[in-house]
Amino acid sequence: MSALITTDVAEAAAALRNGGLVAFPTETVYGLGADASNDAAVERIYTAKGRPVVHPVILHVSDVAALDTWADHVPDYARDLAASHWPGPLTLVLERRAGLGERAAGGSSTIGLRSPSHPVARALLAAFGGAIAAPSANRFGRVSATTAAHVVAELAEVLDPSTDRILDGGPCDVGVESTIVDCTGPNPRLLRSGQVTVEQVETTTGRSVEAADGVTPAPGTLAAHYAPEARVVLTDGAGVDDLLAALGAEHPGATLGLLACDVVTDRPGVVRLAAPVDADGYARVLYAALRAADDAALDVVVAVPPPDEGVGSAVADRLRRAARGTMAS
Ligand code: TXA
Ligand code: MG
Repeated sequence: MSALITTDVAEAAAALRNGGLVAFPTETVYGLGADASNDAAVERIYTAKGRPVVHPVILHVSDVAALDTWADHVPDYARDLAASHWPGPLTLVLERRAGLGERAAGGSSTIGLRSPSHPVARALLAAFGGAIAAPSANRFGRVSATTAAHVVAELAEVLDPSTDRILDGGPCDVGVESTIVDCTGPNPRLLRSGQVTVEQVETTTGRSVEAADGVTPAPGTLAAHYAPEARVVLTDGAGVDDLLAALGAEHPGATLGLLACDVVTDRPGVVRLAAPVDADGYARVLYAALRAADDAALDVVVAVPPPDEGVGSAVADRLRRAARGTMAS
């Protein structure tokens, strides 16, 4: 096992205090964390991920009090969202308080805040005592990590065992990244789908959610994202056989995988990557399944998205991006 891995929260908090990087579990995916108030440490996140410097990083905070520490002019509807959904898989983008978190914000005048619910993330926040800047713990453009072993596969090479740690808290429960809501305008705007749905945001705020304008997309919303090496092709349950036949004819000898809910049965000669029973189960196994496709050196993954309800729309969103993404950098 890698010397980077620990289950000791105090050791991980000490690494953060010393300017090190700590990958840690959240309920969504693993994050690659640094002390949000230490610019040099935050800088190292970008280097480790190979991430463009202008891409903002989410600050992980312990509670709603952080809204007034890091943000200005917080609208009431954002307070309502935090009160209802924190701790949990919801990120709020707010006007950044001048002079704070500029590096983590990638120079933006806004800041993304989220209070995670994972008990290990909460213990780390409590032991550390400050905000933790953390993007997902994967190389830029690649599939997010939902276990400590995935983090090792993604980042062990670029982390330093003398300063950095991977805090192992087991597999993530939700499996896809948080819902991101831009709260800088008169109404909430959805920047990324996640387990917290548009309907929930509308119910909590009593406002209608605007769709992102597509002019200033967040990096996690780039078309070529969440992409495995294998080509991902989408279909519905009824189209699986025709698609497999077409792929077989087009690429004789290609190795094929199938990712779909269990109502879609196994097909002979096709590697079954996962057979979740519902959208929640699909979200939980999605990234592990895409990684398994690469581990098995599959050429093409045929994926049938789950029903478009609850977290299902976030899964479908990530699959569409994986399908469009060629080998993202
Ligand atoms: O569930 C999650 O959100 C995970 C866990 C670790 O918390 N984090 C995560 O971080 O997915 P990352 O960096 O991979 O994706 C965060 C997305 C990026 O697309 C980033 O551009 C956007 O959030 N974002 C962060 N701060 C922002 C801001 N101030 N304005 C607009 N977008 C922002
Ligand atoms: Mg990410």
